[in-house]
Amino acid sequence: VNKVTVQLFQKMKQHKEKISMLTAYDFTMAKLIDQAGIDAVLVGDSAANVMAGYDTTIPLTLEEIMYHARSVRRALKRALLVVDMPFGSCSGNPYKSVENATTIFKNTGAEALKIEGGEELLPDIKKIIAAGIPVMGHLGLMPQSVHKYGGFGLRAKTDQEAEKLKRDARLLEEAGCFSITLEKVPATLAAEIASSLRIPVIGIGAGNEVDGQVLVSHDMLGMNQEFSPKFVRQYTNLEEIMTNAFATYHRDVKSQDFPSAEEAY
Ligand code: KIV
Ligand code: NA
Repeated sequence: VNKVTVQLFQKMKQHKEKISMLTAYDFTMAKLIDQAGIDAVLVGDSAANVMAGYDTTIPLTLEEIMYHARSVRRALKRALLVVDMPFGSCSGNPYKSVENATTIFKNTGAEALKIEGGEELLPDIKKIIAAGIPVMGHLGLMPQSVHKYGGFGLRAKTDQEAEKLKRDARLLEEAGCFSITLEKVPATLAAEIASSLRIPVIGIGAGNEVDGQVLVSHDMLGMNQEFSPKFVRQYTNLEEIMTNAFATYHRDVKSQDFPSAEEAY
């Protein structure tokens, strides 16, 4: 297997090969994603939504993300493992942030951490990178800041916001981030940022002219038809397929069709 490293990420951008990334939170799903040849797996704090059922990513704890990350670690052979720093674990106290980053790194086998935030968090991000931990930035829609912005809408719609975003992206590259995730921003702005940086920009709802794409696996599998924003392409309808399987099993138990003689000892 041609193991994906942060160095390979840079090479893929140089060779104009797009980078594929998906989220995973458990062993079985991570194994299938790795088998399919996806380049990077993100243990996203979206675990708060799709695993735990919270409305925001804010409640997820360090212990919880580490449990998911360890489960995913055991499954991956080729993909780069990136783990989110959860809300409050990297928030303006660089010494505390590097301690939390170190805890996640030591206890999970993560190969990089992802951090939401720009200029405000540079001191934290620089300390973490100095400690030997590769960092992926995350700009645009930053779900941990949902209450600051009052929702999950498109970001960088005004010139002022767009200027701040471009500046933050440049500062993150200068600070030594190996890559940046750009979430839910206009495609032309994302394209401009991707072409102005040397490090790969991974988009989600950021159009086609970036260096790679990331989606929440449960979304692209169509596991929740109530959540289908237009930036998500549903590659299957697992909600229907799984609900049908569960309902058929239920019917078979009630009718005593299951188990059959062949399925008994
Ligand atoms: O937590 C997550 O799943 C993410 C991706 C959507 C980028 O941060
Ligand atoms: Na996240």
